[in-house]
Amino acid sequence: MLAPLILAASRSDKMRSFVSAAPGTKQVVDRFIAGESVDQVVPVIEDAAAKGLEVTLDVVGEDITTVEQSHAARDAYLELIGRLKELGLGTKAEMSVKLSMFGQALADGHELALANVRPVVEAAAAIGTTVTLDAEDHTTLDSMFAIHEELRKDFPQTGCVIQAYLFRTEADARRLAAAGSRVRIVKGAYKEPAEVAYQDKAETDKAYVRIMRILMEGSGYPMIGSHDPRLISIAQELARTAGRKLDEYEFQMLYGIRSDEHLRLAAEGHRMRVYTAYGTDWYGYFMRRLAEKPANLLFFARSILTK
Ligand code: FDA
Repeated sequence: MLAPLILAASRSDKMRSFVSAAPGTKQVVDRFIAGESVDQVVPVIEDAAAKGLEVTLDVVGEDITTVEQSHAARDAYLELIGRLKELGLGTKAEMSVKLSMFGQALADGHELALANVRPVVEAAAAIGTTVTLDAEDHTTLDSMFAIHEELRKDFPQTGCVIQAYLFRTEADARRLAAAGSRVRIVKGAYKEPAEVAYQDKAETDKAYVRIMRILMEGSGYPMIGSHDPRLISIAQELARTAGRKLDEYEFQMLYGIRSDEHLRLAAEGHRMRVYTAYGTDWYGYFMRRLAEKPANLLFFARSILTK
């Protein structure tokens, strides 16, 4: 009931101003956002590496409105990659990018986003790491998959995300489950209409299992993005049945969510990657985290009221 309202609020400028200015917001945001700058996120990456975890880094800021902002987004990732190189952390950290931040929704956005993301993918490859294209709302996906295909001609290790709640995704998974591909499967975090997406969580979960099976039985590299204990154990079972070794797939979870589980899976010998978001423009990312778990909203409301 609450999730669609929160997701609608994530698109509202008025709510953005209210939430950003509310006392107590920062305390809750800090649970999900690892810092505001590269300097603040570096210790988080080092700490993860010391614990046997890997990371994928997301510079938050999807709601851009100008070409200059899209260039600034590109430059923020290039700065991050420069720092990873200096610190020798290239093999422990990947990047996740939202093409909207690279200008996809602006005029000639497809070309602009491709032109902005290419140097980031190139710089990542030069330090031995890679980039995954996040999946945003369903209207953006044809463009995202086309950019993914284009990038893979030169950088075949470039990953992409698919969302189990969309009807189209099983077909996308079949197309993508080929040698050399890196595909992250997630449930899906946007407000989508009934024409394109399951509205019932149980249907999404069943689709998630079908899609994992396609990925595990295929010849690409599956990245299981979920905190759901049931899906994690089904993933382990499917991997065993498909004869995959522990380094032939990985688990991914979000920074600040089920941190004990990150450590448990890493201790079992799994590759565990923590999706670590940082930056100042955290509103859209934060609101999706609230929508995923209504208890977060109560915690948020309490922290505003007690300030
Ligand atoms: P589910 O929502 O059922 O949660 C299972 C359990 O995990 C909950 O019971 C709770 O304990 C815990 N949990 C989950 N979310 C929580 C939260 N916000 N706060 C506190 N506890 C929480 N989506 C998308 O559309 N495009 C994308 O590119 C990505 N990228 C991405 C990367 C990675 C690494 C992950 C893990 C997730 C994404 N997502 C995403 C988000 C994804 O679509 C989905 O919304 C969340 O992962 C929540 O779904 P779960 O699979 O965790 O299950």
